[in-house]
Parts: sequence; structure tokens; C-alpha cells
Amino acid sequence: MFSSNTYQSRRDRLKKDLKSGLLLFLGNQEVGMNYAGNTYHFRQDSNFLYFFGIDKPGLAAVIDIDANREILFGDELSMEDIVWTGAMPTQKELAARVGIREVLPFRRLLPYVKKAKKAGQPVHFLPPYRHDNMLWLKEALNIPVPRQKNAASEAFIRAIVAQRAHKSAEEIAEMERAVNLSGAMHVAAMKAAREGMVEAELAGLVEGMAVAGGGHLSYAVILSVNGQILHNHYHGNTLHKGRMVLGDFGAETAMHYAGDITRTFPVASKFTTKQREIYEIVLDAEVGAIASLRPGLTYKSVHLAAARRMAEGLKALGLMQGDLDEAVAQGAHALFFPHGLGHMIGLDVHDMEDLGENFVGYSAAVQRSAQFGTAYLRLARELEPGFVLTVEPGIYFIPQLIDQWRRQKKFMQFINYAALKKYRDFGGIRVEDNVLITETGHRVLGEPIPKTVEDVERLR
Ligand code: GLY
Ligand code: MN
Repeated sequence: MFSSNTYQSRRDRLKKDLKSGLLLFLGNQEVGMNYAGNTYHFRQDSNFLYFFGIDKPGLAAVIDIDANREILFGDELSMEDIVWTGAMPTQKELAARVGIREVLPFRRLLPYVKKAKKAGQPVHFLPPYRHDNMLWLKEALNIPVPRQKNAASEAFIRAIVAQRAHKSAEEIAEMERAVNLSGAMHVAAMKAAREGMVEAELAGLVEGMAVAGGGHLSYAVILSVNGQILHNHYHGNTLHKGRMVLGDFGAETAMHYAGDITRTFPVASKFTTKQREIYEIVLDAEVGAIASLRPGLTYKSVHLAAARRMAEGLKALGLMQGDLDEAVAQGAHALFFPHGLGHMIGLDVHDMEDLGENFVGYSAAVQRSAQFGTAYLRLARELEPGFVLTVEPGIYFIPQLIDQWRRQKKFMQFINYAALKKYRDFGGIRVEDNVLITETGHRVLGEPIPKTVEDVERLR
């Protein structure tokens, strides 16, 4: 936990920005996995963590700007709870650590919010993503669940994004810890991988390291010899020479700041020529995109420049052809690079995605593209100092997509489908680092994590 001043000044700024109304923060509850008492790993809501810092289930909070009250709602443990879970600080003690003096039992929240609504006080709430909070909001505000996302307070969302998008020095220090642990997980996987292993052995190894680091995974491990499947959580394949392993995983610290790193390495001790050629194209795009980062640039322009750079590499290999400016403008590169270059990262791996991607990654000046591939870009807006983002270009050979485009005779002028036949079983390559935008440029967070061909082969 940061000092109480950090949380107090975050809330003070929120009050200044919103000026009036009641701000509602619903913390997360335990969620039953196969029965109520056997729960999933508990993860507190990130907005709750940012403004109230308390990492426990069963809490909510209200900032009543008009009444000048900040109240934590939560229940003291009964003796029966203590017998099973052990003693814990009182709610009052927890609240005091984050500068809150007023604590009420959880059951008092519903009448508090209902009364405010009845009195005509604006109740600002955030888009819910947990079903229990959706049901609670239905009860408190009488808004049907399907309408809650759109009924959430845009002013509240924008005020939170304005703060959380700019990371403070203490947050950046925490994020460096997350990246360093994530990097160690990748190095361990690269060192441990052997032909004949099952992917799950490596996935388990890195998950164990994240937990041993005092936090947890920041998202479910993606680790696969089928790197062309972007979010592949299946870990049942055996590692064979001739394939590569794409690992996209990271740790979050005990304070829940996330790392999100991707590396790709060959199962054999060395890349084949074909693998190395594609790897170098991806790495060159990643390093080039990072080198270009500075405030004022739109991330959409960095995304398109990376797409263009990879298209040049693919043209040199005979896989793309024709006028590459036109190819990228029309979206032909998305056959190989069907996702965005990156996203903000912080307390969430896709930072603030619960608040709505367009509020976080887009602006009045930069609107979302409708084109396949670029439409998935989560961050497109102008970069500002204090932003932390991922840079994660990739090249994938997705047989189903190639077949569909070839059948549709799509972008025949830009894609050499005949040459692609030799790459059907190639898989995919992605390389990803986490980068801070500074006043004058950028800084890659954490200790360097091996990514040149030579460095990766040395670890193998
Ligand atoms: N780490 C997975 C993603 O960025 O979507
Ligand atoms: Mn990512």
C-alpha cells in the first residue's frame, strides 16, 4: 500500500474534477468457482485499489462530495470468521491507512445510495463487470443490467482515466518490479524449455514464479507452440524441434501493478533460417516503434509505422508485394498482423479496460478505425508523459485466415498466396516490452529482457 497521502490526494483531485454528486465505488467480492465456498483467486477492483487501496473482499466506498463525506462500507469479522480466517485489522484501522475516518456496515450502503437517488443527488457509478455488482446496482438504482454499462457516469469515467493514465514515480517503481519479475519468468522459461516437454510444464513454472514473487499472474498465461492463436490458453501440446514457443505472460506485484511481456524462442537451440528471418522483422518493428516513442505522437501512427515496417520485411521475403503504402492503408498487412501494437498498462494489464477502451485509448482527434486489424488497436491517442504502454508487434500465419482471404481473392495485388504455402505450419512470433513515455521521449521499464537472436539462442 502507498502512504495515506497518495490515496487522499487522488480522491481530492477526483472531488475537484467532479465538483458535486455521490461517487460510488463497488469493491469486488469473492466468487465461487464450483461452489460458493471454493473461490477463485481474489482480485480487488482496480479503481477501488487506486482510490482506496484496501485489498479485501466485501467492501464498497462512497465519496459524497455534496455532504463532504468519504465512507468505507464493510463488516467487522465475527468470532466465527476469525476462527476460520484468523484475526484481521478492524475496518476502522484499514480505513485509517488510506485516510478514511468514517466506516459503516456494508448493509448501510444500499439505503445510503437509494436515499441519495430519491433526493435527486447524481449517483456516479462505473461500468460494472462482475455479476454480483450488476445485481446490486439493479437493486440500488433500478437500472436493468443490460443498460448499466451505458448508464455509467461518463464524467466519473473521464476523471478517473485522467488520473490513472499518468503514472506517478511510486507507481512506476512498482511497475518496474512487475516487469523485472515478468522478465525473470521469461528467462526461466527460455532456459527450461526442452524438446518433449508439454507446454503446461513451462506455464506452471512461470505461474509459480509469479506467485512466489508475492503477487500473482497479471493475466492467464499464453504459452504455446501455436503462437498464431493470439490468446491461446491451451497448454497441452508437446514441444518439438522445428517449432517455436510464444510466451506472453507477466506478473502483477502484491500491489497489483502489472507486467506484460512476450518473447518467442525456438524449441531447438537455434532459430531456423526461416524462423530467424521472420523474427528479425518483428524485432526490428518492435525496436523501431520503441525508438520513435515520445509525447505528442499518436500511437495510431506508431502502430501504422510498425505495420509498414513489417510489410517491407515481408515484401523482401516475397510474401507481400506491390505498393506498401497502399497495402497498409487498405489493411492487407492485417493478414499477418491482425491486432493492435499495444495498450496502456498499470493496475490492469489492459489498463482501465473496464471503463471503456474508447475513453482510455482514443480522443476527439483520434477515432477508432473500422478496418480489420487496426480496429483492435486499444491505444491510438496522442501520447503524454507518464503513460505506460506495451509495444507488441507480431507476425502470424493463421491457416484459416489465409485460406479465407485466398478464397475471397482478397488483396491479390499485395499478398503472394503461392509463397505463403511454405509458411502454413510456421506458427507466430510476437515480441513485447513495457515502455514509459517521459517528458522528452521514452524509457523501457525494467532490466533488459533478452530479445536479440543471439541473446535468445544463448539462453537456449
Ligand atoms: N497480454 C495479452 C494482451 O495484451 O492482450
Ligand atoms: Mn499486451
